[in-house]
Amino acid sequence: MKDFKDKVVVITGGATGIGKAMADRFGAEGAHVILAARREDRLREAVADLTSRGVDARYQVCDVSASADVDALAAYAWDEFGRVDVLVNNAGRPGVPARVVESSPEAFEEVFRVNVFGQLNGIWAFGTRMVEQGTPAMILNVNSEVGLYIPSPMVGTYAASKYAGRAISETLRLELPEHVHVGVIYPGLVQSEFGGDTQMTRAGMPAAEFVDVIWPQIENGEFHIVSHPWAKDYFGETAQELAHAFDRYAPHFDGDNKYDSKWLASQTIG
Ligand SMILES: NC(=O)c1ccc[n+]([C@@H]2O[C@H](COP(=O)([O-])OP(=O)(O)OC[C@H]3O[C@@H](n4cnc5c(N)ncnc54)[C@H](O)[C@@H]3O)[C@@H](O)[C@H]2O)c1
Repeated sequence: MKDFKDKVVVITGGATGIGKAMADRFGAEGAHVILAARREDRLREAVADLTSRGVDARYQVCDVSASADVDALAAYAWDEFGRVDVLVNNAGRPGVPARVVESSPEAFEEVFRVNVFGQLNGIWAFGTRMVEQGTPAMILNVNSEVGLYIPSPMVGTYAASKYAGRAISETLRLELPEHVHVGVIYPGLVQSEFGGDTQMTRAGMPAAEFVDVIWPQIENGEFHIVSHPWAKDYFGETAQELAHAFDRYAPHFDGDNKYDSKWLASQTIG
């Protein structure tokens, strides 16, 4: 999808950070933008800013972890415009830093409710309607480079949620009809309010620069949407380590195709 003029774009967590920078870009390209998040004051501010630049922008208060809120958001968007062309599943939260063994079910649940079920709620509410709508549409799931590799200890809850998100995006890509494109965005550090105002977040890529990097990939309908070059190296280290394990302990052998799960699944599931 290259032309966003008059397209309808819904962005969760869109009042701040990456979501707002994406709203700026979609708006500048002529899209109608709906921002959805929990804090009405921040939504109002963001919409006022977009409107002052001539963008048709509006908002809905929405907690993405509540499926009723996300259903209501979809109903609002379709009532207003009769269609939605792009959903940016962007709302997310960090976890509280802790070692996995010292963590708790509640800590995992809290993060999964937003980062995993929040995106699923979007996929359920918007994906079904987009399939029925039958016109070219796009679901962009904002993940993280932490969905590709684990940068450090203490990020287990957040990393697990982003790995889960990547698995959901990868599966969706195989399942949705061609007219509903899925993209998964893997930001590295980007300046935003994520995790509070820390030295680390201040050192991130400015959000507008980040959007400049990902924009051509969105236009080109890429599935993996990337931005921070070092993520390739760290992801590559994991891939190499795994390849080494296979070479050493489970190399190919004559007749091993009988254990090829992907091939077997294609024969039985289709
Ligand atoms: N900033 C980074 O360095 C970075 C890196 C990798 C991935 N990400 C991802 O980017 C996305 C956007 O984060 P950001 O960096 O712009 O931070 P941000 O804090 O500015 O934006 C996140 C937005 O999500 C909203 N939100 C949180 N929980 C919500 C809920 N339950 N319902 C609705 N809205 C909710 C917040 O209010 C906020 O507006 C997140 O998914 C995050 O995991 C950020």
